[in-house]
Amino acid sequence: MANDALLIKHTGTGKEVEYPLTKAVLGAETVDMRGLYRDFGCFSYDPGYMITASCKSAITYIDGDRGILLYRGYPIEQLAEHCDFMEVAYLLLKGELPNKDQLREFNLEIADRSIIHEALRKFFDGFHYDAHPMAMLVGVVGSLAAFYHREMDVKNPEHRWLCATRLIGKLSTIAAASYRHSIGRPFVYPRMDLSYCENFLNMMFSRSAQIYIDQDHYIDPFLVKALNLLFILHADHEQNASTSTVRLAGSTGANPYACIAAGIAALWGPAHGGANEAVLNMLAQIGTAANVPKFIAKAKDPNDTFRLMGFGHRVYKNFDPRATIIRKTCYEVLSRSQTNDPMFELALSLEEQALKDPYFIERKLYPNVDFYSGIIYKALSIPVDMFTVMFAIARTTGWVAHWYEMMDEPATPIGRPRQLYVGPARRDFVPIYQR
Ligand code: SDX
Repeated sequence: MANDALLIKHTGTGKEVEYPLTKAVLGAETVDMRGLYRDFGCFSYDPGYMITASCKSAITYIDGDRGILLYRGYPIEQLAEHCDFMEVAYLLLKGELPNKDQLREFNLEIADRSIIHEALRKFFDGFHYDAHPMAMLVGVVGSLAAFYHREMDVKNPEHRWLCATRLIGKLSTIAAASYRHSIGRPFVYPRMDLSYCENFLNMMFSRSAQIYIDQDHYIDPFLVKALNLLFILHADHEQNASTSTVRLAGSTGANPYACIAAGIAALWGPAHGGANEAVLNMLAQIGTAANVPKFIAKAKDPNDTFRLMGFGHRVYKNFDPRATIIRKTCYEVLSRSQTNDPMFELALSLEEQALKDPYFIERKLYPNVDFYSGIIYKALSIPVDMFTVMFAIARTTGWVAHWYEMMDEPATPIGRPRQLYVGPARRDFVPIYQR
């Protein structure tokens, strides 16, 4: 067998075929099995895509065993320490870090695109006053296509750039509008003079003492810094469920607003981006630190559906590097806010007890980024049902980068998995009076 191939043998017929292996720049090489059905008449069965590489990508690299996360080759720790969220957004989209001029221009362009059409703003009036902000976000982002349909030719590079910057610019405006609608407050327009994170906080909390600490509308830099960090950590994460959804929708040639709306919908689930909201709901369910052992026992019981939200990860099996970074910030935020909320004490007690428990140690179940992000958002006075929206704002940069990368490829096949059919074999129709 050649060095760069994998030999597959059918034990029934004795037929052997070599499949080529492709080396990755980093990480596991992949075997190209596209000839499997032609050669053996069988499909590969891989529910949950545990071992299937669905695309080539140059954006993000994860080594789950060693807890490594790189955006365009740069370690997340370095980006988190030195960068602004827009710098990271530029890096994800363009592949290189911007120089000063490029960053200034990008910031201006994103700020310019953050305004939404007045007609789009009126969409919010159609939503019930207590609609979940994620429900509004999915609907309103999808409907952006109705406003920009003349500039949505996915084959046209200019249109693609417009779509990308519009999505990044408008996401935070639409997200903040969803929140304002849910509390019955007037919509706050974006401001060109503020950074991305400052602008978002302003649109969310304008006239709220938590953000404006004096008459000059001074936005607390500590909050801006914490938000900037959270957005950087959530910006991209390779081929996760929502990004794969964006790619699958994009493979049909669907417009990018529809693709990102599909990503937002996928992100909402509690096993994915909905986990940060689920963490807070779980803490509320646990109630007090005294109940932690009882709920840890429930999480370990295979006959109980209860699981510890914010624990475990499909890829990270030792630690989530984002959780390591954010854990420190979480403690800083909690000590600074000097909050007496018993929920924080409960969260820290849960973290401590689960980390010592053999069940979690053996299965390599550690707190993931969403365990701490939920706690930080709570301490920053972000309402619980906005947590996944916050994740969506950050992840839009990653989704857009993946959509962009995909559109740049000369030919992307439509996503179309196969199945292992387990339904009835062929049978003949029986008229209703004979059944
Ligand atoms: C995100 O993929 C990404 O990149 C996602 C993300 C991103 O940035 O895009 O990182 C964001 O989605 C983070 C994950 C947020 N989700 C949660 O916190 C929800 C709680 N976690 C789980 O539901 C779960 O751990 C997953 C979905 C995150 C991962 O699931 P896997 O890889 O399919 O793991 P598994 O279900 O095969 O579990 C292996 C074992 C099982 O026990 P055994 O059958 O071997 O006895 O671990 C157990 C599971 O029952 N287990 C848990 C558990 N998670 C797994 N037991 C208790 N509590 C948990 N949270």
